[in-house]
Amino acid sequence: MLDRSNAPFYRWFVGAETNININALDRWINTDVANKVAYYWEGEPGDTRTLSYRELYWEVNRLAWAFRELTGLKPGDTATLYLPMIPELPISMLALTRLGVIHSVVFSGFSPQALADRIVDAKAKVLITVDGFYRRGRVIRLKEEADKAIRLARDRGVTVEKVIVVRRAGVDVPWHEGLDVWYHDLIGEAPVKAYVRPVPRKATDVLFILYTSGTTGKPKGVMHSVGGYMTYVYNVFKWNWDPRPGDVFWCAADIGWITGHTYIVYGPLMHGMTQVMYEGAPDYPKPDRIWALVEKYDVTTFYTSPTLLRLLRKYGDEWVEKHDLSSLRLLGTVGEPINPEVWKWYYKKIGGGKAPIVDTWWQTETGAAMISPAPGISLVPLKPGSATYPLPGIVADVLRYDGSPASPGEKGLLVIREPWPGMLMGIWRDPDRYVKTYWSMFSRPDKGVWIYYPADFAVRDADGYFWLLGRADEVMNVAGHRLGTIELEDALLTHPAVSEAAVVGAPHPVKGQVPLALVVLREGYEPSPELEEELKETVRSMIGPIAVPARVLFVRKLPKTRSGKIMRRIILALVEGRPVGDLSTLEDPAAVEEVKRAVEEFRSLMREG
Ligand code: WTA
Repeated sequence: MLDRSNAPFYRWFVGAETNININALDRWINTDVANKVAYYWEGEPGDTRTLSYRELYWEVNRLAWAFRELTGLKPGDTATLYLPMIPELPISMLALTRLGVIHSVVFSGFSPQALADRIVDAKAKVLITVDGFYRRGRVIRLKEEADKAIRLARDRGVTVEKVIVVRRAGVDVPWHEGLDVWYHDLIGEAPVKAYVRPVPRKATDVLFILYTSGTTGKPKGVMHSVGGYMTYVYNVFKWNWDPRPGDVFWCAADIGWITGHTYIVYGPLMHGMTQVMYEGAPDYPKPDRIWALVEKYDVTTFYTSPTLLRLLRKYGDEWVEKHDLSSLRLLGTVGEPINPEVWKWYYKKIGGGKAPIVDTWWQTETGAAMISPAPGISLVPLKPGSATYPLPGIVADVLRYDGSPASPGEKGLLVIREPWPGMLMGIWRDPDRYVKTYWSMFSRPDKGVWIYYPADFAVRDADGYFWLLGRADEVMNVAGHRLGTIELEDALLTHPAVSEAAVVGAPHPVKGQVPLALVVLREGYEPSPELEEELKETVRSMIGPIAVPARVLFVRKLPKTRSGKIMRRIILALVEGRPVGDLSTLEDPAAVEEVKRAVEEFRSLMREG
């Protein structure tokens, strides 16, 4: 069943065939669940759409029919989705997987440049996007961004054959006859009850790819498998959320990230859950939008990020107290370590002291939660800030850099010692990078020992509880979003004024971390507030708004080793006001003074929050 012969390219459920649609949709159609609400969708302006399992099933079937007949998508092809949080996103994902087409969802906050990189790498045949959507009361015109990305991709030799456009905001869009098709026209071509048999796929085929940031500039296309992902997600969903028939589940993440794939699309649908799905900003038009939705839909199970909790907590308890949140029975968090005081606030103020907090540690690469409480099996006593224990089948450990086990209470590096079904299959078109990134830190291939390295710090306490302590590599965690520092540095270096750039994740009271950039200018350029804005704009256009540095500080030198490597560790220590530690490999001590001066002002800014 598990093929270990080509480790670390483990293959799960070899010989089996399935299609995730069967478990997410088809299994419900002749049961009571068919009439149950699958999604209560709410747009930011307050418009709503309710989809039952039966309606979802038929819309997915019709769209799959239209994709197959009118776009020529075939099993094994790839399609990129650049869509906001509207029902057409899960519908499109399901229609594609029904046909065996691999989807690559790109977060709608990414820039055209970032989208183009992902279209090119995936060689996408079809792009699905939207005219516009609502964010903080404004319409974001996504089709225009998508068009730019298509031109950029074409310049790099990848020609998208069809662009399918959902009408959401009703705004005018640039139109290209022969290339662009309205989603409603496409689906309108399909017979009302067009049925498409789910295409049988090998358990070891690719279900989807999702790009995530790593330690080099180029994002990695994490591949998830048909059989392993499905099986693991089904089980973990049950263990995490203890699903019951009357539940209303709300994962307040974006489907553009893995959390949304697993906990808004595949996991809940495989359990016949009723869900809330929300388009807009969490504090728009008022700071109580989230709590108002919990009350309105009687949400029982709520899952979000520490960043959002910190933000909502800052607005003050009066916004919470306006609402009856007594329907909540389980609360979850994901994406970052949760501060114990925020945990306690969540537990007392939001859950009324009766809803356990399910703190789930996992990654894009792991498919679903790995270390977390499991109320669906048996709940252990919780400790605020700890994700408790590994889930069944997950063999986690904490090691020192030399590979020896860390003692209880000693900070070390988290590792996973055995493969698990939800694990990534590899990196799209880059097998070497897969081995190098995840399996080279502690593995001993000569001894047949393969150890998965997630690049997270962790401590295991005397009771065996795991405490996750943040990234151990050059990856930042900004408001729960993964961003590579090198990715930002590469973006800054595209500006003609920049000679050298260093980016670190500086601590931030709400967002966890924010990117802070230090740049050395080329001859002939002078520091100025205008240039700082220009450099921020460069990052915005290369990656997207989420990556824009809090500040771009100008320095004459960066701390480097004698071999020329930037010492981000020193910069970070200075930003955090810690001792800089060992400076023996530093090339020029004057650089430390230079950075110290530059970060002084930034530090006082951060202290004010
Ligand atoms: C961090 C998100 C502490 C961690 C599902 C990991 C966490 C990275 C937690 C993956 C948690 C995720 N406690 N840290 N409960 N959950 N992380 O790929 O550093 O966007 O490596 O997946 O988020 O981020 P990704």
